[in-house]
Order: sequence, then C-alpha cells, then structure tokens
Amino acid sequence: MNRKELIKKYTDFFSKKKKHKRIANSSLVPENDPTVLFTTAGMHPLVPFLLGQKHPLGKRLTNVQKCIRTGDIEEVGDTFHHTFFEMLGNWSLGDYFKKEAINWSFEFLTKELKLPIERLAVSCFKGNKDAPKDEEAAKIWQSLGVPKERIAFLGKKENWWGPAGVTGPCGPDTEMFYWKDNKNPAPKKFNPDDEKWVEIWNDVFMQYNKDEKGNYNPAKQKNVDTGMGVERTTAILNGIEDNYLGDTFKPIIQEIEKLSQKDYGKKDEDTRAMRIIADHIKAAVFILADGVTPSNTEQGYVLRRLIRRAIRFGKKLGIPKEKDLTTPLVKEILKIYEDYKELKKNKEKIISELNKEEGKFEQTLDKGLKELKKMIVNSKISGKDAFLLYQSYGFPLEMTKEIASENNSAVDEKGFNKEFKKHKELSRTASKGRFKSGLADNTEKTKKLHTATHLLLQALKIVLKDKKIEQKGSNITPKRLRLDFSFPRKLTNEEIKKVENLVNEQIKKGLKVTKEEMSPEEAKKKGACGTFDKKYGDIVSVYTIEDFSKEICKGPHVKNLSELGKFKIKKETSSSAGVRRIKAVLK
Ligand code: ALA
Repeated sequence: MNRKELIKKYTDFFSKKKKHKRIANSSLVPENDPTVLFTTAGMHPLVPFLLGQKHPLGKRLTNVQKCIRTGDIEEVGDTFHHTFFEMLGNWSLGDYFKKEAINWSFEFLTKELKLPIERLAVSCFKGNKDAPKDEEAAKIWQSLGVPKERIAFLGKKENWWGPAGVTGPCGPDTEMFYWKDNKNPAPKKFNPDDEKWVEIWNDVFMQYNKDEKGNYNPAKQKNVDTGMGVERTTAILNGIEDNYLGDTFKPIIQEIEKLSQKDYGKKDEDTRAMRIIADHIKAAVFILADGVTPSNTEQGYVLRRLIRRAIRFGKKLGIPKEKDLTTPLVKEILKIYEDYKELKKNKEKIISELNKEEGKFEQTLDKGLKELKKMIVNSKISGKDAFLLYQSYGFPLEMTKEIASENNSAVDEKGFNKEFKKHKELSRTASKGRFKSGLADNTEKTKKLHTATHLLLQALKIVLKDKKIEQKGSNITPKRLRLDFSFPRKLTNEEIKKVENLVNEQIKKGLKVTKEEMSPEEAKKKGACGTFDKKYGDIVSVYTIEDFSKEICKGPHVKNLSELGKFKIKKETSSSAGVRRIKAVLK
C-alpha cells in the first residue's frame, strides 16, 4: 500500500463509515497563530474549534495534514525521524470520546489495514499529581482483545499531549505500536524502549484545560485528537524497516545515489548523509511552496538551516560543487507528492530559490570550513568565532556545533548568544522564547487584531480605489498585526493616514461583526472576499462587518468593533514583488 492509498483508506473509513467530514490540508505556516512557526500536528489548524468555537462542518472531522517538526533536526539521519511528514487524523469536537475513538482505531488497524493483533501493543497514561491513571483507556483496549502484557503505563513525557502553548486543552493519550521486525515474532510483553516497536498512532483525550496558574481543570468541551504517521505506517504495511526505503523517500534516495556515485546502506556515514539530504530538501520544498523564502529570521531561518545542512552533507558525500544538488531532487519530490497543487504551481520558484541559496552558501562554505578547522585547534570554539562563522560565512550555529562535535570539539554557545544579542539580530527561531506564550492567553488580543486586519484590507481597497487588492499573507502576534497585500507601489503618507482614519471611523461607529455559514459559491455571490478553494470543504464561515466588509474566514473575531480601541499603522514596506506589507497595532 502506498501513501496515497493509505490516505484514501483512512479518510474514507472515517468519513464514510464513521460520519466524519473531510477537511482540507492547511498551510505549513499557521495563520494567525503567534505561538509556533510551523504547523506541527493535524490539530494545529483546529485550535479555535478545540477551544469551543463551532466548526462549520460539524463535530466529527478527518484529514491528512502536512507537518514540519524542527525540534529534533539533529535526530534526522536514523530510519524514522523526519522534519516533514504527513499526519492522518480524526477529531471529535465535544462529540464522541474514549470508547469510540479506541474502538475505531482498533477497527481501522485490524480490519482495514489488517494488521495482526499479535504485532500490536499500546501505552496509556500512568497518572501523576494532575490527573489519574487512565484505567478507562486500558480497559477498552483489553475489551478488544489486547492482552494486559501488551499495555504499558507510561508517564507524562510519553502519554500526555498539549497544551499547544502554556494554557489550553490537553490530556492523556494512548499510543499504538507495531512490531516491525519481520524475522522474529513480537515478544509477549511490550517493552516501549525496544525500537522494534514503532509508534504509529496516537489518540489524545483532551479532557482538561490547563489555566494560567498551572491547574488542570476538567474541560467544558471534551475532544478527541488523533494522529497517525503516514510514512511510518506505509513502511510497516510494506514490511519495510527503514522509512527511507518507503515510497515517500526511495526515489529521492536513488537520485542522491546517482549524484554521489555511492550506494545507500553500504557505509553508515554515507547512509546517514543521504537521509539528511532527502529529508531536509523535501521539507524545504514544502516550506518554499507555502510562501517562505530563506532569511535570517523565523520560518525563513529554519528553511535556510535545512537547505544549508543538506548542502553540507552533500559535500560530505562527495557530490561535486558543480553539480546541481537540488533540482533533480525537487523533480522526484514533485512526482511523489503530485497531489499537492501548491508544489506544482510553485515549481519554478522552488527551484530558483533553492539554487540561489545553494549558490550563496557554496561561495562561503569552503572558506568557512577552513576557518573552522583553524578554530578547532583550541578545544572549544569561542562565541566570537562562532558568530564570525555565522555572520561572514553563513554558518548557522547548529552547523558549527555539529562540525565541532564531529571533530571532538564544542562551541561556547553562551558566548555566541551574547555576540548575537549585541548585534541585535536575535532570531526568534533560535531562542525558544517564542514557544513560551500560550495560544489561549493571546486569543483576546489576537482576536481584536484579527478583526482589525479585515478592516484594514477593506480600507485599503477603498482608499487606493482598487477592488482587486488581495490578502497575500497575515501574521498576528498579541502585539501587532501584519498584512501582506497585492499592490504595485509604495503608499504615500497621505494614503496611510486616510486608511488609518477610515478604519478608526468604523471602530467609532461600533459596527457589529456577524458570522454566517454558507457554500463557497454563495459566499462569492454575496461578494465576500477570501480564498474560494475548498478550504473547509463545502461550507465556509463568512464574517460581515455591517456594510463595510465581508470576508471568508475561520475566525475568531470580536462581536462589536467598539472593543478594538485605536488603530495605528506602524510601518508600510515592500514584502516581495507586487506585494506590500503593513504592520499595525491597536492602542
Ligand atoms: N496531536 C497529537 C500528536 O501530535 C495527535 O501526536
């Protein structure tokens, strides 16, 4: 079974047999969520609905979601860690709970995928001071025929999920494992530390809500959030013990073999390098397709690090500089993921951005490596030196660290960070601070800024007398909004003032914000702006601000503009060709 067949089987099972509605695969760059850089799980785009907002398609949802996780970039290189992966999921928004979720997971694994129960094991939450042991989940598994010895009770690190930020929905989970060794039968007793047991699916029971004081209160709406890894599951279904030999990686690996004239699986060091290149370039292709370009901040910096790390491992593999490493790989990646429209649409841009970054880095890579070798003479690389490598040769800190450790050396990271701060370029990606703010704390502030974004877009259309102006991107933090929109030139000071005044006039009038649900066709007919492709299937939410604005949008929004305060534009700059960027605040 290949990835496409698995995705179809899963979404058909939940939509046709269990009455779930299929929802679309969202962008890797979360909309209006300041707490994370990338979509890391299928539940991510659903956070407002997990927090109680009504979803236009109902209480049972299913989809496949593209995800990026950069937490363990350094682990990439083994057989099963990936930066980019696809996650299948089914959700209950205050509808069914543990019994149905576990029963259906079991039914799907054993009846649809026909996995023998002899090769399955599960883990459940063992309990701590915040929440009791999840006996309920274990009993349900037992009632289905999973023997006691195959149920492990583990702690918070393994069997608890969320909240996405500091506060919000969270709860115990139960994970499903498969014995991947084809030669030896699965041991009677489940040992979660044995790597032959691969985790393939996770059912999260969001029965708590963590508050700002750190208390776990019973949630008003109990949700189920599940996630099944596509790459891992297709690998086991095909009896493959190494994901990189499965259908989502093999053609890329074969291309790397050709480029390097080396064989996969022969020498550990080369095999690891090939996996890193395949993984990182795949992730980079998807990130580029969602509109991010390499830079020194936020998503752009993650992208840059992925591309540069891949290039360095290409060099280690002995791929000559003159050879174009990325273009042949992009072609294979596009073939594997032909169902992703955004890849096809952006093919030229993806290739040119990768080539640009490759060119840039190759100019400095050799010189930088030479400098680094000299620095390693003293056992530890100073912060100043690491910063020099960063600034003058484009070496991300992680790369310097990695090369240092390959040479039995280390980097003075504190020193590096000091230098970094001194140069006022502290990338928020590099600091973990970004992940500290919880989504739930911010919803009130971000909600207001989100409504202000709708006002701003409409005001721009009116003031600039251009109905065709389109939103090209939006990013909201609790402090400010950022709107990218199509427009060919810089705005004058006078225009900016007019836009600001027009927005503030609407706020003063205290216009009401209302929400309706309808088909995308109807929304279009009514003159709503927004994306008309089937983002949420057949029903969309339309937010109307009296006779001023009408937009298709997921929400949430304030009920009345009088809640907003005073609107002020802080900056108007260029974002890319034909796209302007405005940052604005509410005071
Ligand atoms: N959100 C859960 C996970 O990522 C399903 O494992």
